[in-house]
Amino acid sequence: MAKDSNNKNLLTLENIESGYGKVKVLHNVSLKIKEGQIVTIVGANGVGKSTTIKTILGLIKPSSGQIKFKNELINSLETYKIIAKGIGYSPEGREVFGNLNVYENLRIGAYTVSKDDFTKRLEEVYQLFPRLKERKNQEASSLSGGEQQMLAIARALMQDPDLLILDEPSLGLAPIIAEEIFNRLAEINQMGTTILLIEQNVNLALHLSDHAYVMEKGKFVLDEKASILAQNDYVKKTYMGIA
Ligand SMILES: Nc1ncnc2c1ncn2[C@@H]1O[C@H](COP(=O)(O)OP(=O)(O)O)[C@@H](O)[C@H]1O
Ligand SMILES: [Mg+2]
Repeated sequence: MAKDSNNKNLLTLENIESGYGKVKVLHNVSLKIKEGQIVTIVGANGVGKSTTIKTILGLIKPSSGQIKFKNELINSLETYKIIAKGIGYSPEGREVFGNLNVYENLRIGAYTVSKDDFTKRLEEVYQLFPRLKERKNQEASSLSGGEQQMLAIARALMQDPDLLILDEPSLGLAPIIAEEIFNRLAEINQMGTTILLIEQNVNLALHLSDHAYVMEKGKFVLDEKASILAQNDYVKKTYMGIA
């Protein structure tokens, strides 16, 4: 993979401070994602991973620093405008619409997409996740956890984003299902979508990713090629349970 060498930056965060009201969560967070990469943020519960994503998406506004997507400053834009620039988001806990069926969930994900493009995108995500096609008329609440995660990813892909952001897609899934999801992510990436992944399953994440950041207490403490981090003694001991 020559993914990290010449490609352009797709998303950059520079010295971001962010949080909730007076509570500062992120301290001097800088991050860079190049076109075509899979970049992961790993870290324990409560360190600020989801806050980083919420800040990128404009759900909370940074108190200082800059966020650029495709070389354009986005940190003062409203969320729907940021999303419309080409970001797909699969939230923590999936948040599919339980009382709507699979097709209706995908329709909602495609609200910015023309009718012709919708039909095309629908075929593409059904090809990626045949299980969703089989269950297209089923209520989302009746799906398994893994299928709901597939639906959350498929919904985020409906507008054909340049960057797909996933917040803990493996959470609560059996290892074999998590692996299946990760195989799909590799495919999605090979078809040209850049990915920002948040994960607590460090082993899976580092094997999938090109680059990874380790977050502790609202700061990045390590930032390395994923294959190098996977060999790092501290990472192995602290995050992979390997002594
Ligand atoms: N809506 C909120 N209001 C106030 N504090 C919050 C809110 N959401 C998260 N936090 C706090 O921010 C910190 C980071 O949370 P979060 O980004 O969700 O962590 P992670 O995703 O790494 O588990 C935690 O201390 C959490 O309690
Ligand atoms: Mg989180």
